[in-house]
Amino acid sequence: MNQSGNKPKIVIALGGSILLPSLNAHAIHAYVPVMLEIAAKAQVYIVVGGGKIAREYIDVARSIGTDESTSDEIGIAVTRINASLLISALGDVAYPLVPTTYHEALSYGCSERIVVMGGIVPGQTTDAVSAVLAERVRASILVNATSIDGIYSADPNNPAYAKTAKRYDTITTAKLLEIVQQGSVRAGSNNIMDLVAVKMIDRCGMPLVVLDGRDPANVLSALQTGTFAGTVVSEDGTSPLPLIS
Ligand code: UTP
Repeated sequence: MNQSGNKPKIVIALGGSILLPSLNAHAIHAYVPVMLEIAAKAQVYIVVGGGKIAREYIDVARSIGTDESTSDEIGIAVTRINASLLISALGDVAYPLVPTTYHEALSYGCSERIVVMGGIVPGQTTDAVSAVLAERVRASILVNATSIDGIYSADPNNPAYAKTAKRYDTITTAKLLEIVQQGSVRAGSNNIMDLVAVKMIDRCGMPLVVLDGRDPANVLSALQTGTFAGTVVSEDGTSPLPLIS
């Protein structure tokens, strides 16, 4: 396990659809106590997604003839606004600025405060950012809090697979790579995980947990007890959880 002082480093990818399903119904307040509790035992880095709001901006951009990489830049801007909102809600326990590079994230992490960031470069999603960041800070684990309760053998939301799709409790990284290999790379696309992210995880052997972030307590429970709704992904299919007490 990689440690900073006595604290493990944990990177949490918080989907925009989890944190801000809409501007009227957000989960920012619900996530603050969970993040504070985790941060008492670990050095926490959070990567916030853009969610539906980013996709709506990207749709408008496309409708006026904007190219894909510029549309991505618009998506990145939304992720950074979402990151700013979470920083604001966390208060002094969070570093006050949103890093725009991995170097900045590392540097802000030296404050031992929670670091919150969004996207970095076009052509990927914040899943990829979280995977690169996890490698860069030598995290003990990457947690991907999403709107589905783990990784399935096929898309359970597709009526053709609804009855046969099987949820994995644990899975190898190689198997996850196989599952996401067919995904789209268009701006705003919505797959279980970004292919770039899975390749990064595979490359550095980073343990990953994909879990249902619609209930913030699930994130805490995964890290504290190892009991949660989701899937553990690792090189050999074993679980490093629980990680904090
Ligand atoms: P997200 O990471 O939010 O994508 O980035 P998502 O798959 O919609 O995730 P959820 O719904 O939040 O879980 C939003 C968009 O911003 C651009 C991409 O277009 C992405 O689809 N983006 C984000 C980048 O181009 N680069 C980045 O590093 C991050």
